[in-house]
Amino acid sequence: MCSRVLMHSSFIHIQAIIMKFHAVILLCSLFGFTQQQSSQEACACTLTSKEKAFPLESLNLVNDKATKCTSTVTQLKASELESMMLGLEHRLPQLLEDMSILEKEDDGGLYGVVSLQLIENELKEIKELVDKLSTTTQGHKHLYTDSAKQAANLKEDLQELELYDTFQVEKKRQDNQRLKRALHECEAKHDVNTPPTQPPHDMCPHGKFVNITGPEVFSQGEYAGSYKYGGWGRDPKPEAGEERWYWRVMMTSNNRYANYVRYYSSLSTLVVGVGLPVNFHIHASNPTTNTVQGPNVVLYGKALYYNCYNKGDVCRFNLTSKTVSTLELPKGTRFNSRANYCHLEECYPYTDMDLATDESGVWVVYSTVHSFGNLVLSKLEEGDPPTLGRTWHTSLFKQAVTNTFMACGTLYATRYVDKSIEEIFYSLDTVTGVEKFNLGIFINKMSPNINFLNYSPIDQMLYLYSDANMVSYKVLFE
Ligand SMILES: *[C@@H]1O[C@H](CO)[C@@H](O)[C@H](O)[C@H]1NC(C)=O
Ligand SMILES: *[C@@H]1O[C@H](CO)[C@@H](O)[C@H](O)[C@H]1NC(C)=O
Repeated sequence: MCSRVLMHSSFIHIQAIIMKFHAVILLCSLFGFTQQQSSQEACACTLTSKEKAFPLESLNLVNDKATKCTSTVTQLKASELESMMLGLEHRLPQLLEDMSILEKEDDGGLYGVVSLQLIENELKEIKELVDKLSTTTQGHKHLYTDSAKQAANLKEDLQELELYDTFQVEKKRQDNQRLKRALHECEAKHDVNTPPTQPPHDMCPHGKFVNITGPEVFSQGEYAGSYKYGGWGRDPKPEAGEERWYWRVMMTSNNRYANYVRYYSSLSTLVVGVGLPVNFHIHASNPTTNTVQGPNVVLYGKALYYNCYNKGDVCRFNLTSKTVSTLELPKGTRFNSRANYCHLEECYPYTDMDLATDESGVWVVYSTVHSFGNLVLSKLEEGDPPTLGRTWHTSLFKQAVTNTFMACGTLYATRYVDKSIEEIFYSLDTVTGVEKFNLGIFINKMSPNINFLNYSPIDQMLYLYSDANMVSYKVLFE
């Protein structure tokens, strides 16, 4: 057994070396690529190596030796040993049984003699078995000792190799860093683009998301159950004088499509419909090119961000200029109800694309063919037209969650527990890249289905649109 343990640690050494080499090779190819990219004032770098090449043959040799050694150890003829033990196990009770029969039936006559003979034979066979067993284990002991010695030798070889390797890799690493710095300096001179906005982790004023309370608002508003799908909330970056305004977008056509934003000057206007709500129309028709498809829309900076009708694009409708600009998502982005939010019983139609707001701006959650339907998160950069910022690929299957939201640069996802409870179970921290699958924060629902969910950074509330109801919850931070 001892030799097995040694073998294992030897393989880890080999792997560590190979991985280090990968890193160097990757860096080298990176430099090759940047070299070709530049045109007039070229950012060029050359990577020359005067060092002796890494003794790859020695590594292969050691690897071969190690493989051979394991196969001898693992093929141990264990089955032979086992069958002998089994035989013994079977014969001993048999012997015991025969003995007891003999005792009972001994009439001093012929029958007793025959039985005794049977038992003597049995004993002889058992003795042979035990002898054979003892020589076999002797043999195996040799094998163990041999392999242990071999493994110890291997370990020495590997340590030597690693010493050599560390030395080389460290040198190359320093070279690479020097080149990388030079390259960055050179690139910086050429780069006129502003850097993308970073998730505001260090500016996140509230600490860690721990729980929610509520609901606080629970209302169907003016239309009393007419529009099952939609979205609502407040603009996190409102215009002066519109800080307390609310917006609502209802899927007025087929539960799927919308062509206007309804804007309310206060919460009471939204809830009871008094005052004068204003409609901002994207187009007179519904649906048509660049109107809204699906409920997971957001208003930010007095512009509505949403999935454009019949396209894998994000649209932005400027409520002031009444113009739409579009942003094409990566090739293979799924749309037209092919990658919806779902639970076991049903999927929510046209929820392929989910826009979200947090302290740092607007995000989009979607999935692509290349991500095998897993959830993909991208930051949207404001600008005209908006552009795609950094992208994160998650290991969360989009159709296994019911909705998502962003808060303080962290993505959260929910799942359906039952008619009255939804669980916020998943998070992805975009700064550390760490995914968690067991948050265990529960939402007490007012109705079974959540069709829209978004976090509002100005009041730290979650806004839900749930079976024609507008519901809000207060987010509790640490
Ligand atoms: C979260 O809040 C609910 C009540 O809103 C409470 O029952 C629950 O214990 C809280 N959970 C934690 C982890 O604080
Ligand atoms: C919307 O249009 C107005 C007027 O043209 C402009 O000032 C504003 O910057 C635009 N907003 C966005 C988010 O592009």
